[in-house]
Amino acid sequence: MKRQLPKAHDLRPLLQFKKPELSAKTRRLEKALTIDDLRKVAKRRTPKAAFDYTDGAADGEVSLARAREAFGDVEFVPSILRDVSTVDTSRSVLGRSVALPFGIAPTGFTRMMQTEGEIAGATAAAAAGIPFSLSTMGTTSIEDVAAAAPGGRNWFQLYMWKDRDRSMALVDRAAKAGYDTLLVTVDVPVAGARLRDVRNGMTIPPKLSARTVANAVPRPAWWFNFLTTEPLAFASLDSWSGTVADLLDTMFDPTVTFEDLAWIREQWPGKISVKGVQSVPDAVRLADAGVDAIILSNHGGRQLDRAPVPFHLLPSVVKEVGSSLEVHLDTGIMSGQDIVAAIAHGADFTLIGRAYLYGLMAGGREGVDRTIEILRGQIERTMRLLGVTTLDELTPDHVVQLRRLGPLG
Ligand SMILES: Cc1cc2nc3c(=O)[nH]c(=O)nc-3n(C[C@H](O)[C@H](O)[C@H](O)COP(=O)(O)O)c2cc1C
Repeated sequence: MKRQLPKAHDLRPLLQFKKPELSAKTRRLEKALTIDDLRKVAKRRTPKAAFDYTDGAADGEVSLARAREAFGDVEFVPSILRDVSTVDTSRSVLGRSVALPFGIAPTGFTRMMQTEGEIAGATAAAAAGIPFSLSTMGTTSIEDVAAAAPGGRNWFQLYMWKDRDRSMALVDRAAKAGYDTLLVTVDVPVAGARLRDVRNGMTIPPKLSARTVANAVPRPAWWFNFLTTEPLAFASLDSWSGTVADLLDTMFDPTVTFEDLAWIREQWPGKISVKGVQSVPDAVRLADAGVDAIILSNHGGRQLDRAPVPFHLLPSVVKEVGSSLEVHLDTGIMSGQDIVAAIAHGADFTLIGRAYLYGLMAGGREGVDRTIEILRGQIERTMRLLGVTTLDELTPDHVVQLRRLGPLG
């Protein structure tokens, strides 16, 4: 073999040193390639009680594990030799265009996970052209969220309280602030048993005990933010100091029925979506009641454990009511591939809860941007690999559900 000395002009193109990224946060986020990577960063940076509150689910956490497993058990069937040079991930959802087939789900106590909280979520969603949902248990007011993301599309999530007048006062404020859709959550007649919270002695707001202080030492940024920004409080409720489960059980009304839904319908001028639907008969009843959308969801596994897996329920619900209302889905989504599978099986739209919160905990607004960027990349690449250029081209033929679990008989 003949060898030669490398020449300077041959070496130059090889030596492409990247300008060093000075921001540690940006470096951290760029290294995260998946939502699970963001989860790991989030875990390192967030006190145990707050992380577990987000990451955990009810009882044995079986509902959540099964929902994720169902997405993992998808087999994609690609079509070949299609021109996929451009892909379009937009569609119309509840009367308006969205840039991507997912939005941000409502989550309570969000500023406890990271101090930028709902403002980070709402501004990131507005920048990406997707809806942001504010929870009744949110930690930023209805008006502040609207003001932070004036060009954004905001949805308000309602928990029906024992005090109906106060619930309706919130609905009224959301309408005045320009929120276009009301998500009525119906899967919390009582609080689910979140055992991690009980074991961690989790309270709202977090209390400084010997254990929390010890846990804070390796997480100085969270505590610095927590102690030097506006105190954590519910934006829609009076102050509360106690456990989460007690709060939920004090607030929520276990007597809410379909009749109450009709009553809410009369007072809300925008679209109504019912969140927490878990059976075909209930979906049919809601279609008959004339709601605009339903969200197949088991609350991210945080309520009834061993609940139906929304992704498994999807095909039969779409078959029964898909022509009368929009069918949305959440629970267990950790990748763009999960979202593509749900759309292929007939979901009109999806929502992400923890995937958003892991990004938030990993890096505030920039972290939520990273969550959206990761999911967008995965959706676009999966569509191309499947040989489709629009969401409407995705069909059940693109997805085989390898059923590990299914009802007997
Ligand atoms: C920390 C946390 C708080 C939540 N708070 C609410 C809430 O206040 N209202 C509500 O309707 N759903 C709430 N949810 C459920 C989400 O809206 C959504 O249904 C769920 O997170 C979807 O599952 P995923 O986390 O696997 O994406 C919460 C979920 C989490 C993880």
